[in-house]
Amino acid sequence: MTNPQELIDKIKDIPAMPNVIVKALGIIKDDQSGTKELGEIMAYDQALTSQVLKLVNSAYYGFAQEITSVSKALALLGMSQTKNIIITVAMKPMLTSHGGKEMWKHSLRCAIACEMLAEKIDLADSGDAFTMGFLHDIGKILLNICDPVSYNRVRDMVKYGTDIIESENEVFHTNHAELGFLLAKKWKLSVMLANCIKYHHDPMSSSMPEVATLVYLANALSHDEPDIYDEELVKEQLGLETHDVMSYRDEILEKANSLFATLNAG
Ligand SMILES: [Fe+2]
Ligand SMILES: [Fe+2]
Repeated sequence: MTNPQELIDKIKDIPAMPNVIVKALGIIKDDQSGTKELGEIMAYDQALTSQVLKLVNSAYYGFAQEITSVSKALALLGMSQTKNIIITVAMKPMLTSHGGKEMWKHSLRCAIACEMLAEKIDLADSGDAFTMGFLHDIGKILLNICDPVSYNRVRDMVKYGTDIIESENEVFHTNHAELGFLLAKKWKLSVMLANCIKYHHDPMSSSMPEVATLVYLANALSHDEPDIYDEELVKEQLGLETHDVMSYRDEILEKANSLFATLNAG
């Protein structure tokens, strides 16, 4: 492997799906024109629309009446929630086919964790919190698409205790945080999203340490066995005490399980 940019350029078979995501993420403001625009994007993709409506009508959201159109969903859920649903549904095939069930589960948990933690700490700019968590490990997908055999080697090294970034650097001469950042730039995601992806394993190197620490913590909490994390850092950047964090983790897992059940049904 030569350099990360070449690795990204080599990957031609990233599905058309990112188009929807890029467009959905581009509509940031929760205003009239954004709502109309999102409705229009969805009108071009009937398969995606029907999956989104299925999710919106599931027990997870618990609406009494049936929601039959994206514009109705937008009116009831708001722009930010609808955007999250679109991203989740649109990304599922890519995450599951190249990252397996584990990656899908971890990404969704981390998305919910980011959203919940952002709410708990009253993060000023929290609209993209779900997406930050959902896409934080997207670089792993690239490494896996590029060379699944080598990525299995990385998995083995991690299993035997080597740090993931170290393992990837050794095998690929780059790592999923760096590659995810390059992909985020290629997809024209926001600066904050790209930054969080790049620094989710090293938040203090970020120019946005608060949000980077948020994703760092959410990631640690989103494994079956929670990772050990820097409690001092979390307290300093987010003002969260360890006993609170652990009770939030229970809430996160419960919410995630309910969402998995919905997304896996049918
Ligand atoms: Fe990661
Ligand atoms: Fe992760």
